[in-house]
Amino acid sequence: MEKITKYLIVSLGLFWLSCSSDNEEIKTIVDDDISVVEVQASFEYTISEEDPYAILLENTTESDSDFSAVWDFGKGGEKVADKAGFEEVRYTETGEYTITLEATNVAGTSTATKTIKVDQRYGVCSTNGCEELPQNGLKEETDTFAVGVITQSYRISEGGNHTQVLKKEFNSLTAEYEMKMNIMYPSPNNYDFSAGDAIVDFAVANDMYVHGHALIWHEASPDWVENFTGSDAEFEKMVEDYITTTMTRYKGKVRSWDVVNEAVDESAGNPLRNSIFRQRMGGDYVKKCFQFARNADPDAILFYNDFNIAASSGKRTAIFDLVDGLGGLVDGLGAQMHISIDYPSTEDIQAVVDATVSRGLKLHFSELDIRTNLENDKNLSSLPTEKAARQKAKFKEVVNIYNAVPSEIKFGVTVWGLRDNESWLVDFFGVPEWPLLFDENYNKKQAYDGFVGGLQ
Ligand code: XIL
Repeated sequence: MEKITKYLIVSLGLFWLSCSSDNEEIKTIVDDDISVVEVQASFEYTISEEDPYAILLENTTESDSDFSAVWDFGKGGEKVADKAGFEEVRYTETGEYTITLEATNVAGTSTATKTIKVDQRYGVCSTNGCEELPQNGLKEETDTFAVGVITQSYRISEGGNHTQVLKKEFNSLTAEYEMKMNIMYPSPNNYDFSAGDAIVDFAVANDMYVHGHALIWHEASPDWVENFTGSDAEFEKMVEDYITTTMTRYKGKVRSWDVVNEAVDESAGNPLRNSIFRQRMGGDYVKKCFQFARNADPDAILFYNDFNIAASSGKRTAIFDLVDGLGGLVDGLGAQMHISIDYPSTEDIQAVVDATVSRGLKLHFSELDIRTNLENDKNLSSLPTEKAARQKAKFKEVVNIYNAVPSEIKFGVTVWGLRDNESWLVDFFGVPEWPLLFDENYNKKQAYDGFVGGLQ
C-alpha cells in the first residue's frame, strides 16, 4: 500500500473517532511501516418490491484493506458469509429481528446492526404501514352479531395472554368440551358443573354471551348412558332431568344452547343417526329433547347444530327436514363451519343461508375453522404464505356471506379455537394444521384480516 494512502486512512480514522458519538474504539495496527485501520462494518436494507416478506441487504462497508464479513440475520442459526451483491432474506413470523453484519480485517472486528419489525400479515414493517393496523377487537368490528370463540376452563384460570385476547376480541364464549354430557353428568345422579361454572362465570364477568354446547351429542355421552341399565321410560326421564337441571342452573347466563348436535347421518340410510338416544327414546327423540329444553328455559335460544351442511346437499336436505319437523321448538340452525380453503363453494354456503332465511330461523356459523394442509403433509413446519393468503380469502368469504344475512336472523359466528396450536384438528387429522385466526404466539394472522375484511 502506498504510504500516502496509509496516512490518509489513519487520519480519516482518527477524524471519525473524534466525531463518533459511541465509544467504540477504532483500532489501528502498525506493523513495520504499515498502519491498518480497523474496518467499520455498515449495511443498508430495502424491502423487496416483489415480496413484502423479503429484504435485500447490501453490505456498504468500505475499506482499503482486505476484510471479510459475515451476516447474522437475527433468525437464529449459523452466521452466513457475505457474498457479492445483495443478500435476500425472508421473514415470515411476526417479531423483531436484529440483523448484524460483522466485518473483520487484520486490525480487528466491528459490527453494524439494524432491527426490523415483521408482521406476519403484512411482511416487513416500516414502508407498508404496520403501525396502522386496526387495534379494535373483532367484537368492535360488528354490532349486528356476536363474535364467539371456544375455551377450556384451565386456560382461563391460567389467565395471561389467553384471557386478554378472549376479552379484547370476542363477546361470546363456548366451552370446547366441558359443557357436554360426559363432563357435566359423569355418573348416575352425579353432576359436575365445576368446569362449566368457571367458563360461564368468566364470560358473565366479562360481558360475554355464553353459547351452550352441547346438551345431547352421541360423541359425548358418558359410558353409563350408553350402557343404561333402566327401562326406556327411565332413560327418557333421565335425559329430561339432565336437560332440566343443566339449563336451570345456567338460566339467565347462557343465552343459547345447542340442544342436539350431529343427529343426522344421511349416509346410514336413515337420516337419523342410530345413537343411544334414538334407540332408547325413539325416532322423535330430537323433538322430545327440544321440548325438555323449551320447558326448562323458555328464554333460551335453542339450536340444532350439525356439520357438512354446506358441503353435502343430501345432508342439507336431511337436516332441514329434521328441523322442519321440530316446528316452533327450534329457534335456529347451527351450521358448523369446519371447512377448508377450497371447500365448500360460495354457492353451497349460500344455499345453507338461503334455506335458513326462508324458514325464518336464526343462523349460527358455529365451529368455524379453515383447514389448509389438504395434502396431509406431515413434515410442514409452518403455514405456507400462499396458503395463508387463500385462508384469508376464505375467512373473508365466509364472514362476508354471514354479514349479508338479514339482521333478524343474525346470531353469531363462533371460531373453533383461539390459537392454531390449540385447534382440535391437529389431533383429529394427525397432521400439522393452522386453521384459526391467531398463531401460537397470539399474533393475528392474515386470516384475522380476512375476518375483518368480510365485515366491510
Ligand atoms: C371437539 C373438541 O374440539 C375436542 O376438544 C373434543 O375432544 C371433541 O370435540 N363437532 C363438534 C364439537 O360439535 O363439539 C367438536 O369439538 C368438534 C366437532
